[in-house]
Amino acid sequence: MEIIRTVEWMKQVARAARSDGRIVGFVPTMGALHEGHLSLVRAALLQCRPVVVSIFVNPTQFGPGEDFERYPRQFERDCALLEPLAVDYLFAPEASELYPAGFRTYVQVEGLSERLEGRSRPGHFRGVATVVLKLLEIVQPTFAYFGRKDAQQARIIQQMVADLNLDTQIQVCPIVREPDGLAMSSRNAYLQGAERQAATALFRALAAARREVEAGERDALRLVAAMRAVLDREPLVSTDYAEIVDAETFEPVVRLRRTCLALVAAFVGSTRLIDNMLLEETDEGFRVTL
Ligand code: PAF
Repeated sequence: MEIIRTVEWMKQVARAARSDGRIVGFVPTMGALHEGHLSLVRAALLQCRPVVVSIFVNPTQFGPGEDFERYPRQFERDCALLEPLAVDYLFAPEASELYPAGFRTYVQVEGLSERLEGRSRPGHFRGVATVVLKLLEIVQPTFAYFGRKDAQQARIIQQMVADLNLDTQIQVCPIVREPDGLAMSSRNAYLQGAERQAATALFRALAAARREVEAGERDALRLVAAMRAVLDREPLVSTDYAEIVDAETFEPVVRLRRTCLALVAAFVGSTRLIDNMLLEETDEGFRVTL
């Protein structure tokens, strides 16, 4: 695995791969890699060569008072996880490479960026869209891989790619969970003792809604109430939102129809976690994917 630190070198390597007619796969990350990230890398390796992984803790997607400084940085460990998978390139630029002095241009995907995560974390998706556009322009991948745990992020990136006519196909991969259901996240490293146990409330809330859907419930308010009941029972958990939205528009729905997402965000102690569940209408009813 070659470690690339500069934008120019990454562009040159990517240009050479493309002109050889190769299918470039790209997995953008902020490091502190876990099995969720590695599942994206494996998906990329099934379809592409070379595969580029990026590690960049993007300052512009963190708000004031958020965990930018504290965000886990484990570069050596991350390299040790990627090496055995035979990743071709690791792009790990310094912040000054992506945001040199005088940087002024930001990307805003309107309409999708203001709700849910965007309401709780103003400016977050502007930072995400900006860095992802820059990374896609540098790596020029055929396929780029994102996890469904960050469902709103994945939807915003799909919209940006469509709106800006980018030549990358966005692949959204399943959520990877711990054995007790907790969705894998680099922020799980913040959870200690009782908080780690309490954090399963997000998964349990979604699972409660799943049981209701499987029993025939289609009313979104009742499903939200089922999720909130689980979250509210957990003293260490403070709910930010529990909502059911249309998976395309991210607008709330009254009744389940077509493809929806049940989304939860909550603080467990001071750690903010998110999780979601996909609800797809089929001829036999709703297919539920946690
Ligand atoms: O999902 C993440 O880890 C980040 O938001 C991303 C896509 C790497 C952009 O910084």
